[in-house]
Amino acid sequence: TRIFVPLDSASIALGADEVTEAITAEAASRGLEIEIVRNGSRGLYWLEPMLEVETTQGRVTYGPVTPSDVAGLFEAGFQTGAHHALSQGLTEEIPFLRKQTRLTFARCGLTDPHSLASYEEFGGLRGLRNAVKMTPEEIVETVTRSGLRGRGGAGFPTGIKWNTVLQAAADQKYIVCNADEGDSGTFADRMIMEGDPFVLIEGMAIAGIATGATKGYLYTRSEYPDAIAAVEQAIGIARKAGVLGPDVLGSDRAFDMEVRMGAGAYVCGEETSLLNSLEGKRGVVRAKPPLPALEGFLGRPTVVNNVMSLASVPIILDKGAEFYRDYGVGKSHGTIPIQIAGNVRHGGLFETAFGLPLGEIVEEIGGGTLTGRPIRAVQVGGPLGAYFPPEKFDTIFDYESFTDADGLIGHAGIVVFDDTVNMLKQARFAFEFCALESCGKCTPCRIGAVRGVEVIDRIAAGKADGENVDAQIELVTDLCETMKFGSLCALGGFTPFPVVSALTHFPEDFHPRTLADA
Ligand code: NAI
Ligand code: SF4
Repeated sequence: TRIFVPLDSASIALGADEVTEAITAEAASRGLEIEIVRNGSRGLYWLEPMLEVETTQGRVTYGPVTPSDVAGLFEAGFQTGAHHALSQGLTEEIPFLRKQTRLTFARCGLTDPHSLASYEEFGGLRGLRNAVKMTPEEIVETVTRSGLRGRGGAGFPTGIKWNTVLQAAADQKYIVCNADEGDSGTFADRMIMEGDPFVLIEGMAIAGIATGATKGYLYTRSEYPDAIAAVEQAIGIARKAGVLGPDVLGSDRAFDMEVRMGAGAYVCGEETSLLNSLEGKRGVVRAKPPLPALEGFLGRPTVVNNVMSLASVPIILDKGAEFYRDYGVGKSHGTIPIQIAGNVRHGGLFETAFGLPLGEIVEEIGGGTLTGRPIRAVQVGGPLGAYFPPEKFDTIFDYESFTDADGLIGHAGIVVFDDTVNMLKQARFAFEFCALESCGKCTPCRIGAVRGVEVIDRIAAGKADGENVDAQIELVTDLCETMKFGSLCALGGFTPFPVVSALTHFPEDFHPRTLADA
């Protein structure tokens, strides 16, 4: 019997290692032969630690399992898929999974991340095998035609970025994978690195072959030790198997890569700051132009792509541009791995074609709040994303609809809040976060964020004393305009999103209650 237990760090935090030990001990005491496979998470985090047992009908799920449940599970015969109070039925039939379209995450939770053979068994390396037979121009053209846009948040067409690097003449070019996943409520990059690292390696190798870059760096955060270990192990395996190296898959193209770790600054997720950090310098933002595509790492043409963008490339090269392009709506093609977090019943990874209304994602798929109270706000796109009230739950999840609604999808992290949230405190938090994480290069961000905290505190004091706070609100609105248009990068430039959306949609949290209100 094969039993799958996630090695995903979120599952481990919830006790997956202890559950594994308990299963091993219990099976031994019963004289049962079982094989435990540590794989990635399926992303149904409310069921973690989630066990899957291989049966003739498919994998059967049990969760959330604690070590004290293990003896009872064996007693019930879970090793043959028998019923138990923790049974969730066939994994593929769990509605949260069944409703998804998994392209980027097709293998996550299925494949053994330690095994290249397992990766290939689930369709891995087909994209790269196709790519090595194509010219760089053909690969870039395929990615452009697929409509893939930068999944880090900015949504810039990946193929056009690659073309800039391909066309640039240089003695050396680089692929840099931005795995500095810093947004609140996001974990998609980590899940891929831990659960299916070969897809990222394959995507980076394809990017290298497409642009003439022979060297790649994966830049990630020190808070992700398990992801770092998983990718490093996979790189070693890929190198031995000739997937990476001087002749990728026996072709005449070279590509190799290594992992680099940052020191934990949020701004190092901004591409130019990341490049400085990668070069061993302080993580300060560089002015653009020059674009990293022309003068990036060590001044050479560099593709800087997010984990999700690169991990979406293999399936495009495998199944073709049209296959990918046909998913989605408007100018947002393909699928988006949405991360549902915060005060929500069913938190986890939900990959779907662009086009779902926000309300359906949080209320139906996420199942509403964990506390059972009404949802008051959801923040989309990380700490610099806008807050949406239920009145705007008809906003469609795609790049343009969110821009039109004065928001952004960013890295597709959604954080849910119930009706106990204080939006003035959330607005203060946005300024505080910006003040703390500012690289200090430009004035609107460095000084504006500090002034923002002060003004919000004056509004809070005025509200408590029942004073008119209109002048302070005008001041903070004006400050947001300055930061939005005067900041050098998205950290200062996007801090107004949470602040202004809180002011716009939740004015009652900023103004004193009048007698009429009472
Ligand atoms: P941007 O709009 O300046 O650039 C987008 C990308 O396109 C960059 O890589 C840029 O170098 C490239 N580019 C632009 N014109 C090009 C051309 N002609 N040829 C080749 N490449 C070209 O956006 P930026 O500042 O890089 O990113 C902002 C986004 O980052 C925001 O939308 C935000 O959602 C997101 N973000 C993501 C976070 C995360 O944890 N993933 C954290 C914070 C922000
Ligand atoms: Fe640095 Fe903030 Fe200016 Fe960005 S906006 S360059 S983080 S000071």
